[in-house]
Amino acid sequence: MQITVGIITVSDRASAGEYKDLGGPALKETAQKAGWQVLCEAIVPDEAARIQETIRSFSQQGCGLILATGGTGIGPRDVTPEAIRAIMRVELPGFGEVMRAESMKITPNAILSRSLAAIVDLSLVIALPGKPSGAVECLGFVEGAVPHAVALAQRTPTSC
Ligand code: MTE
Repeated sequence: MQITVGIITVSDRASAGEYKDLGGPALKETAQKAGWQVLCEAIVPDEAARIQETIRSFSQQGCGLILATGGTGIGPRDVTPEAIRAIMRVELPGFGEVMRAESMKITPNAILSRSLAAIVDLSLVIALPGKPSGAVECLGFVEGAVPHAVALAQRTPTSC
């Protein structure tokens, strides 16, 4: 099954053009290396409505996997987890648990990330930290579970 991907960079400054988006391209490279097909990309500010409408639009365009990077911390504008939880059908807590536990072996600051995964419409949404290396690291920790989770999200018949 071909995994189709949408990538959303959530950042006020990147969306305003104040700095170059590095997280989106880093995730794109990782996704392509995994053999996945990147269909959609967007940079949005840290605003729940913008995050939600982009997720829904990417899902409708056929992205089985939607990767968001940024807004998972404790900054006053960090709203990515709340935005996703408000529109999800179910959360998959194992993703957040593994991402934090494995990242703690790299940096104690990983405990500050509220990274998560959830099913929204027919897509698996994974919210990753904003730092490009952190986003790529976290995706690597959960990558093995992605094909089966996407198949279930898309209601494709699977063997288990
Ligand atoms: N996880 C990994 N694997 N590597 C990292 O460098 N950075 C942490 C954390 N998770 C990091 C990480 C830091 S410094 C923060 S503040 C949180 O992710 C939240 O980042 P965000 O608010 O940009 O999403």
